[in-house]
Amino acid sequence: MYKKRGSRKTLLTYSTIIAVGLFFLNACTHPAYVLPDSQRTNDPEICFERDILPIFISNCAMSNCHSASKAEKGYVLDNYQNIMRKGIVPGNYAASAIYQSVSGGNGSGEDDEKMPQGLPPLNATQLDLLRRWIAAGAVDNGACTTSCDSNNFTYSSAIAPMMQTYCVGCHNTSSSPGGSLADYASVKASVTAGKLLGNIAHTPGFIAMPPTSFQLSSCEVAQVRKWIAAGAPNN
Ligand code: HEC
Repeated sequence: MYKKRGSRKTLLTYSTIIAVGLFFLNACTHPAYVLPDSQRTNDPEICFERDILPIFISNCAMSNCHSASKAEKGYVLDNYQNIMRKGIVPGNYAASAIYQSVSGGNGSGEDDEKMPQGLPPLNATQLDLLRRWIAAGAVDNGACTTSCDSNNFTYSSAIAPMMQTYCVGCHNTSSSPGGSLADYASVKASVTAGKLLGNIAHTPGFIAMPPTSFQLSSCEVAQVRKWIAAGAPNN
């Protein structure tokens, strides 16, 4: 009688341990919360093509990293559909491996290495844009308004920010393939060598830049054209 009660107690203890174990196992593998479609509110100040895609193009989609041809660790980060395939959890930036890796990594998974590898980290503005974009549902909200004015083509207000947004992720030092575009002297040297405009305008005979399907707007190309026509000054 006593023995039987004892074994029942043991059974109870074991089932409790198993139940608690299962609970934690389940807690660890519980899928990250994904914002339902209807709640993807979008952040009106952020436009995917204008604010988010250039961050990926210039910092991740290099031919030896997350391009269609290399797809390092299965990530192809060159357009919206590809970016959404892996590593972005709409509504939940903390659970998004891509956000984790560019914001320093939290060490919790194999997709969590610090990115971009071997390049300067994203700046605070870029991280903030990514965080807000994911939190609002990681939406591609179509046509973006732009503040581009083709009559504004000074180096400091038009050309330098354009290089920073679209080019410097890859062209950050003189040893980068294609050279640096990170400062006036480097950009001017590229122009003097007869390059830059043909590359961004996708003129036949030039290597199209950026080297993905993404192309700068006609307004941005016009700014570069006018700046070069004016002698590419450091103004
Ligand atoms: C994803 C990485 C990446 C981005 C972003 C990128 N480039 Fe390049 N660029 C390269 C690589 C790689 C080469 C070398 C290509 C080659 O030699 O085949 C290159 C070469 C060039 C060259 C030299 C071409 C030649 O004929 O020698 C120019 C000029 C250039 N890029 C301009 C730009 C400009 C302007 C931007 C921004 C609008 C830009 N690139 C954005 C990777 C990039």
